Amino acid sequence: MDDVSTMVARQYEAYAYPEPFSDLEAQIAAGYQQFGDPSRYGPLIWPEGRPRQKLRILCAGCGTVQAAYFAFTNRDCEVVGVDLSSSSLAHERFLQDKHGLTNLRLFQGDLREVGQVGQQFDYIVCSGVLHHMADPDEGLRALASVLDPAGAMLLMVYGATTRTGVYLLQDALRRLNVPQSPEGVAFGRRLVGQLPSHHYARWYTSGAEELKHDTAFVDTFLHPQDRAYTVPQLLEMLEQGGLKLHSWIDNGLYFADAALNEFQPDVREAVARLPDAEQWAVVESLTLRIGMHMAIARPAAVASRIDFDAPDWDLLRPQWMPDFRCIRAASGQQPAQFRRGSVTLDLGPTESALLAAADGSRSLRDIFALPLLASMPPAERAARGGRFFSQLWRMGHLMFSRAPS
Ligand SMILES: C[S@@+](CC[C@H](N)C(=O)[O-])C[C@H]1O[C@@H](n2cnc3c(N)ncnc32)[C@H](O)[C@@H]1O
Repeated sequence: MDDVSTMVARQYEAYAYPEPFSDLEAQIAAGYQQFGDPSRYGPLIWPEGRPRQKLRILCAGCGTVQAAYFAFTNRDCEVVGVDLSSSSLAHERFLQDKHGLTNLRLFQGDLREVGQVGQQFDYIVCSGVLHHMADPDEGLRALASVLDPAGAMLLMVYGATTRTGVYLLQDALRRLNVPQSPEGVAFGRRLVGQLPSHHYARWYTSGAEELKHDTAFVDTFLHPQDRAYTVPQLLEMLEQGGLKLHSWIDNGLYFADAALNEFQPDVREAVARLPDAEQWAVVESLTLRIGMHMAIARPAAVASRIDFDAPDWDLLRPQWMPDFRCIRAASGQQPAQFRRGSVTLDLGPTESALLAAADGSRSLRDIFALPLLASMPPAERAARGGRFFSQLWRMGHLMFSRAPS
């Protein structure tokens, strides 16, 4: 292990992350979920169709819960969890025993040596880990080396803009030699409480519920090794690793349509006209809402962005993102209301009927042929329908597959 892995391991032995819980079933019933779970996000990860039922899944830097979670929600798959921290793995083992997860194997070690597991994976989950390595590019290369050529990775790395205040505070606490200990945490908490209201770290802490747990406080403010990425930096890291961005988990944070809805139309439209990667970079700088980048990356040869300008775009099959819901049906003059996270969307009767047809079984072409659009000439159905569905995709409410689900 290098010095950084040793320091990082020491932290996660003492402050295993995330704050563990004791029952996956109860936690999931109460609404807990991991983004990018293939049992729910399959079409987004593999629009061409899931490569095989029994996926080989790696959770690299699994922490206390993640590998058990993926084994629990994907019982028909084989899950391998790797982590530096034996105390984190002990909790994974506790969950494994509790829920009888015979499809889970756990290894203590550095993900840079993941090749020693002697296996290729269809899906690699690495969230909140690479940014704690001395050389994240090396970590990503190690993961890419065990990824099946048709595989996919869920990566989460910190977003630089939102975390500006975190780094100011980390720097101050480091210079003050504040230790990772109950006393250090208590001192850090008192310090945060005295920051002026305009301090960037205060703005960060106001949106971070989990900081009430000491393990999250240490992870955020007393971490010895931590960096963050802007969109261009993340895209560059993927390219260096022979990967490409295949999809964001939440398009709504990156495309101007939803992310800039508090801006005037002229600004929103100017940003929307930019090529995608430029648009995401500008949106990130204008909104400061991306504290974490959650992305699906795939080997460059198989990464495929959804493209509404492709000749066969209307063969795409839309379906709702897992956390998108109808919370009120249209009635009389009242529009239907939909929700995803904190975002709500009001839609009239025709649009909500179009959306109801987006169940993954029909292509856009099938949907445009439904009787509900019969009064419109065919070219107009495709033009208006295309605009509607592509916008809902950019808002993060839909995913598309090319194969029946
Ligand atoms: C912030 S936690 C994230 C845990 C989990 N991925 C999640 O999202 O809940 C980071 C985890 O990565 C592990 N880790 C950090 N560097 C690692 C490395 N080089 N190899 C293996 N695990 C590592 C730590 O021990 C810790 O458990």
